[in-house]
Amino acid sequence: MASTQQGGLLARMMARKSIAQVQRETEKSELKRTLGKWNLLLLGVGCIIGAGIFVRTGSAAALHAGPAVLLSFVVAGIVCAFAGLCYAELSSTLPVSGSAYTYGYTTLGEFVAWIMGALLLLEYGLAASVVAVGWGGYVVSLLADFGLQIPPQFTGPAGYPLMKDGVPVLVDGQTVTTIFNLPAFLICIALAGLLVVGVSESAKVNNVIVAIKVSVLTAFIVVGGLIVLSNFTELAAKNWTPFIPPNTGDGEFGVDGIMRAASIVFFAYIGFEAVSTAGQEARDPKKDMPFGIIGSLVVCTVIYMLVAAIMTLLVPYNTLNVPDPVAVVVDNFGASWGWLAKVIKVGAIIGLTSVVLVLMYAQTRIFYTMARDGLLPHVFSRVHPKFQTPWINTILVGFVTAVAAGFFDINVLGDMTSVGTLAAFAIVCLSVIYLRRSAPDLPRGFSVPFYPVLPVLGILSCIYLITTVPWNVLQFFLWYMLGGVLLYFVYGIHNSRLGKGLDQEDLGDMAEFPGPVLDNESAR
Ligand code: ALA
Repeated sequence: MASTQQGGLLARMMARKSIAQVQRETEKSELKRTLGKWNLLLLGVGCIIGAGIFVRTGSAAALHAGPAVLLSFVVAGIVCAFAGLCYAELSSTLPVSGSAYTYGYTTLGEFVAWIMGALLLLEYGLAASVVAVGWGGYVVSLLADFGLQIPPQFTGPAGYPLMKDGVPVLVDGQTVTTIFNLPAFLICIALAGLLVVGVSESAKVNNVIVAIKVSVLTAFIVVGGLIVLSNFTELAAKNWTPFIPPNTGDGEFGVDGIMRAASIVFFAYIGFEAVSTAGQEARDPKKDMPFGIIGSLVVCTVIYMLVAAIMTLLVPYNTLNVPDPVAVVVDNFGASWGWLAKVIKVGAIIGLTSVVLVLMYAQTRIFYTMARDGLLPHVFSRVHPKFQTPWINTILVGFVTAVAAGFFDINVLGDMTSVGTLAAFAIVCLSVIYLRRSAPDLPRGFSVPFYPVLPVLGILSCIYLITTVPWNVLQFFLWYMLGGVLLYFVYGIHNSRLGKGLDQEDLGDMAEFPGPVLDNESAR
């Protein structure tokens, strides 16, 4: 009896949506196939470039890797390439929306899809908080350039000493402790408000914002590169010697530090897989999806390495642990370049705003899909009668990301995001292996080369990077996942529409709502 029940439970947990079912649900969508391969590549770059390069690279270099943060970018880029190739295979085989959650549901089954949902909450929801904190750092810095000051207690996480140039700020001999990050909180609330009323970022607007982000980084690379080249030997002797600072223990510097920094700058690559969520709108998904995913990854790796090289050559790496490291480096270009620092700050603020918006949007969309599958309460898929947006879902996501951004430290939030995303990527690599075995004859527009070596390397490298993260973050992650598993058995398994033999909940005309980067009208 017990074993029968166990068999039944296992079968439920591993219930899979058939590919035909996912395609049937997809066909309900009216979305048009208007996104070409360059649109997809720009979509990827638009989601990738954000707080990772504008903010987190600074602390990764200052605290963990020194100039060798360049190598950390290579390591993180390679790990993402393994996962990216797997995403490309899945997206060219299962051209459906919903991203890794749907891939999980059609390959490894419902329980893994649920776990994926929990991981994606870290990858998108929490990442939105990280980028919002980065946004706050650049806003505070830009306002200070114009003589405007937000009370310093309201510019950082709860209970942290306020730092300036690497040392605690003292007022009347006392350390100033931050209480709350007001700018980061407010941007999350404001953007959630925009998403509720349906102010969506069209593909055209996305292209403009990508152009702004890439332009400011290109300006940084060109001007900084010329300054570096005019004086390379001296700068390298001063700031790149030693290139790999000796290990000081605790994962700082040396080879351990490079790996630890890789798990931090890994954050900078998150987003390339967002291309796979546009499966329904790609003109030729089989060819264009792999192009968009791998292409955006390559473009960003090149940009990141150049930016990191210039940063660490121009200033001592230990001065980079600041909220606006790119602007701080520009301050070292010389007095005549003061205006460029301001331009870069404005570009970073615009760029980071769009990343928060896209990440938050992606989070609401995943919750929406999960609710239509019955794995989350119906309220998450309720669509506003006037705005045609999943408004309650959006308000909840906005509030949670705002609170996380307001109270928590960017390093803790960033580490949690990296761990969740690495775990999600490992599952995606596993899904490829599973699908090759369970459906070897399924037509694949793109196949991972050197199968099964690359997907296996993908899984192992993701797990390895997870182990480099501090133990307290890992502990928190394990508790979080345990909570997620419990929720599945308390709620998900009993309410799943698949478990009841039903397709996704049909919401009629309101089933689809316009999205920030999937607005077909403006993509034309
Ligand atoms: N990769 C994105 C960023 O760096 C999440 O902000």
